[in-house]
Amino acid sequence: MQRLPIAEVAGKAGQEVLIKGWVHTRRDHGKLIFIDVRDRSGLLQVVFIPSNKEAHELAQKLRSEYVVAITGQINERPANMVNDKIPTGRVEMLATNLEIINEAKTPPFEIDQNTIEVSEEARLKYRYLDLRSLRMTRNMVMRSKVTKFFRDYLYEQGFLEIETPILTKGTPEGSREFLVPSRLWPGKFYVLPQSPQQFKQLLMVAGAEKYFQIARCFRDEDTRGDRQAEFTQLDIEMSFLEQEDIFQLIEPMMIKLVEELYPEKKIMAKPFPRLTYAECMEKYNTDKPDLRPDKNDPDLLAFMWLIDPPMFKYSETEKKLVASHHPFTMPNREDMEKYPDEPKKWRAYGYDLVLNGNEIAGGSIRIHLRDIQQKVFELLSVGQNEIETRFGHMLEAFEFGAPPHGGIAPGVDRILAILHNEPNIREVIVFPKTGDSRDLMMDAPNFTSLKALREANIRLPEKLVDDAKEKGINIYSEQTQTAD
Ligand code: AMO
Repeated sequence: MQRLPIAEVAGKAGQEVLIKGWVHTRRDHGKLIFIDVRDRSGLLQVVFIPSNKEAHELAQKLRSEYVVAITGQINERPANMVNDKIPTGRVEMLATNLEIINEAKTPPFEIDQNTIEVSEEARLKYRYLDLRSLRMTRNMVMRSKVTKFFRDYLYEQGFLEIETPILTKGTPEGSREFLVPSRLWPGKFYVLPQSPQQFKQLLMVAGAEKYFQIARCFRDEDTRGDRQAEFTQLDIEMSFLEQEDIFQLIEPMMIKLVEELYPEKKIMAKPFPRLTYAECMEKYNTDKPDLRPDKNDPDLLAFMWLIDPPMFKYSETEKKLVASHHPFTMPNREDMEKYPDEPKKWRAYGYDLVLNGNEIAGGSIRIHLRDIQQKVFELLSVGQNEIETRFGHMLEAFEFGAPPHGGIAPGVDRILAILHNEPNIREVIVFPKTGDSRDLMMDAPNFTSLKALREANIRLPEKLVDDAKEKGINIYSEQTQTAD
């Protein structure tokens, strides 16, 4: 017999079916044994009665998280036993055959409960168990549906999905970069991309016209509620466009996403309000206000476009102008002409999408002209030498017929966390890092082998080696080598 996903048993009353999954809970009522069996699609109540002797006897051995295959008859539940909270709550299975496929140790925390109350150390160490809980399974399943939705939507609009390199050179998004030592080029490093920004612009020069990618981004920044060192953007870029074209693409996409996948949510205002940076700061004293009348209403979604941000900000720590978005953003032409010597007054053709007080996307119309890009780098106090070595390829590309272009990058993790009313983005990432950027399940980061260090041309500072020794770890000893 073919295995049936549990979600599909609802319509099978009167039929015999085979299900496979995990023991979610077990309750004994006198001689009757009730098991809730869980698979990815749902939960089903299974009853073992003494007259089905063999199955009933084996069922006595069942414990939480055992893996089982059960054959039985699907019956309508008596009216007083109906559970309207789950889709399969009107039926149950009368078991005729049970196979225990695999046993399970007692889990370190209760998976049949909402695990949000469990210590995060335990949840992250045993993430594969945490993900079995109903809330986390839903988050995992919905994440897949949301990325599929974005993909389908953009394919329909004529976008190409294109992958860009992970081993690359730095692109300035304002965070510290992750470095990867090169074995073949001693002393040289690859940088993990903070975003595919330069590649997507170069794809426009290449004639791709409409690009998107579900892109992994890496930023070596302090992990907190809405930030991870490794996160996902829906990265988008288009040629021959105005700012309005971005709004006309993103706004219907977000509305359709909510209506199709989160129908319980209500969007507060359509079209999304647009506020200039100046208006926003004056009215709300923040560039990401929460426009909901009741800030605790989880089912109301207040989207808002923030437009006309300043092109530059003055950094007190660096004592120089820094780009408020990134240095590839096109400055407002009128401002450039009106205040040629006062770049702090320039606005940028940039925009953020804000949702319930969170920045969920950022983007801009880009510079596609060499002289303007050169000028912006100069205003950012990037020396001519650095301009050539870090960004020479961009400046040169602009001289080979670069089309006007622009784009945006919605943060997938943040969008999901808000749509799922989760307190932080770790809840919607299957394998996230802790607040101090550790992967507790894989135990990363970790020491590596002496051989690997040598090949990467890395010598660790003496002090680090000594400190480790004090803790009983000999970084350079053969015993601590990982297998080659
Ligand atoms: P920006 O840096 O604004 O723009 O990032 C775009 C969106 O990505 C999300 N985001 C993050 N999510 C989780 N953890 C992080 N550490 C993190 N950092 C950013 C946010 C943010 O709005 N290349 C430009 C986009 C463009 O101009 O097209 C960029 O990366 O939701």
